[in-house]
Amino acid sequence: MYESFTIILSNWCNLRCPFCLQNATINNGKEVSAESLISFFESGKVAPKVFKLTGGEPLSPQVYEKTKKIVEYAISKGIRTQLNTNGTYKFTGDFDKELLYFQVSLDGLKEKHESLRGNGTFKKTVSFIKRVTKIGYKVNIMQVLQEETTRDEVEEFINFSVNQFNIHPKFQRMAPSGRASGNKEVINIDYDMDEFIENKGGNCRGVKYKCTTPEGKSTQIGIDQHGNIIPCPLLGKYKFGTIFNFNEFKIRQEMSSKLKGCTCCYPDGYKGEVRFGHI
Ligand SMILES: C[S@@+](CC[C@H](N)C(=O)[O-])C[C@H]1O[C@@H](n2cnc3c(N)ncnc32)[C@H](O)[C@@H]1O
Ligand code: SF4
Ligand code: SF4
Repeated sequence: MYESFTIILSNWCNLRCPFCLQNATINNGKEVSAESLISFFESGKVAPKVFKLTGGEPLSPQVYEKTKKIVEYAISKGIRTQLNTNGTYKFTGDFDKELLYFQVSLDGLKEKHESLRGNGTFKKTVSFIKRVTKIGYKVNIMQVLQEETTRDEVEEFINFSVNQFNIHPKFQRMAPSGRASGNKEVINIDYDMDEFIENKGGNCRGVKYKCTTPEGKSTQIGIDQHGNIIPCPLLGKYKFGTIFNFNEFKIRQEMSSKLKGCTCCYPDGYKGEVRFGHI
């Protein structure tokens, strides 16, 4: 049974990051309700143990009521929950700090971060991280590696994150999805960057990352803002039914036939042909 769910709560976002995999803007059409999601998790068809809540921006006032209902449900069931956020909103929720933790996006030091995420965002996000860690939540910091990201930048950023917050940051390569889908060169990001990052005390989900979702073997799956079953947010255009007609056997079968060879760095293949590693 599927146990781990990445849930895109909404497409609404206050920012317009140029590389956003979700192409987040405002709510596009009717989005699935918290109640429908909870009925699905209670249906007996799945065995939820881990949630990753994402968007859009789950802490924006436009989405927060839904986020709160799902977090409250998760905590009541002992489900470990990661809440992804851009850290530009204040968070005052008081939840179980063993079960709820944050993944906060920080895409570089001030200049780089704000060139991607907008003026004034760096200070807000740094304050967010300080505030929530102070009240006892665990925080992961996530940076998306851009094509032009250098080793010097990465090293400086890791040092900043460790010195400021005592957090060893995580990195992932920008995938050509959503607003980044036109960027067919992302695979060219320094192939050995992953190893460099690990050696400097960071963590990188990169070219060597092995994911079993495309083989149809994983216990992890995604749900988009309309309740469609997707492999993960990077592959939102591949839909395998909905939470309302969920059929695990069919999903696994279809995934293994349609997604063979998928990699996080290049989820949709290169010119229609999926390749691994450096090209
Ligand atoms: C889509 S965002 C939603 C949560 C929140 N708005 C934020 O920015 O953290 C979730 C994560 O995906 C990352 N992301 C966005 N576009 C991406 C892309 N094209 N490739 C890889 N990661 C991406 C973001 O930087 C963030 O860490
Ligand atoms: S990456 Fe996050 S903050 Fe940026 S536009 Fe997408 S959803 Fe919004
Ligand atoms: S893009 Fe492919 S390899 Fe990466 S998490 Fe999604 S299904 Fe797995």
